[in-house]
Amino acid sequence: MKQLKNSHILGIGSLDSDDIDLIIEASFICKKILAQSSRKLDALKGRTVVNLFYESSTRTRSSFEIAEKRLSAEVLNFASSTSSVTKGETLVDTVRNLQSMAPDIIVIRHSSSGAPHLLTRICRASVINAGDGMHEHPTQAFLDAVTIMEKRKSLRGLKIAICGDIRHSRVARSDIMLFSRLGAQVWVCGPPTLIPIGIESIGCQVTYQMDEAVEGADVVMGLRIQQERLKEAFFPSIKEYFQLYGLTVDRLQKASRNVLVMHPGPMNRGVEIDSEVADGPYSVILDQVTNGVAARMAILYLIAGKTLEELRKEADETAD
Ligand code: CP
Repeated sequence: MKQLKNSHILGIGSLDSDDIDLIIEASFICKKILAQSSRKLDALKGRTVVNLFYESSTRTRSSFEIAEKRLSAEVLNFASSTSSVTKGETLVDTVRNLQSMAPDIIVIRHSSSGAPHLLTRICRASVINAGDGMHEHPTQAFLDAVTIMEKRKSLRGLKIAICGDIRHSRVARSDIMLFSRLGAQVWVCGPPTLIPIGIESIGCQVTYQMDEAVEGADVVMGLRIQQERLKEAFFPSIKEYFQLYGLTVDRLQKASRNVLVMHPGPMNRGVEIDSEVADGPYSVILDQVTNGVAARMAILYLIAGKTLEELRKEADETAD
């Protein structure tokens, strides 16, 4: 029986290879189920999931909610902007109060790195990290890996270039760790001010030249300049940044034929990516969003204590 060993999903760094392979396999099965029918599965029937978002989100929050509903969960969406957080209530007090209502799973996005880890110490629910500060965004890494595997079967041996604001990106950290563990050669590229010193230790090579990053790349991922986390000037101007680091059709000529263009969103068009590329024939950016529902549904299903064999059976029943 294949079952998740972890009761929380806090980061790629805390998952072993068995759990990683299991989540990916389950994501593909969930994708099949979602495509076949609108039938709801019972995996989370009678269970409550709290979506605790302290930072804004379009894709992650919506896809978690869709996935939770497809698994028959009772869903509580908590937006900090309309809660007692605005009156000064701390994260710990907020979670203790929510815990008193006995949720089974808490999905948390927070600006502080480590907030999901803190939750595991103060509540009994399973915790899923939906993005913590500049640390990790593990569910994004899974949906990104699934998107690449869907098009290229495996990540083994692929050159994947992640370009832009690496310093502030939790997506970059989770993607680097997951992609390298799946056998890809990961490169990161951006201005020296936006690449953290020592990032190579988590599984990537560094270049400050876009041409070197894109040369022969099978996948090129653009990352957003995270204006909300920039506390100083990291580059002279948006115009210069786009000239040096923007993903343009010209630059993509150096990539491998049929390169996949990815971006976790939200995009700053004309800053890190040109619209011609974002909406062009190589873009799989909206496939990433579609796969977000499947990957999050898989994680929720497994976190509920269900097995891969049970999920396969559900898929067979859905197909009948
Ligand atoms: N990729 C991602 O995390 O997008 P949202 O901020 O819209 O959730």
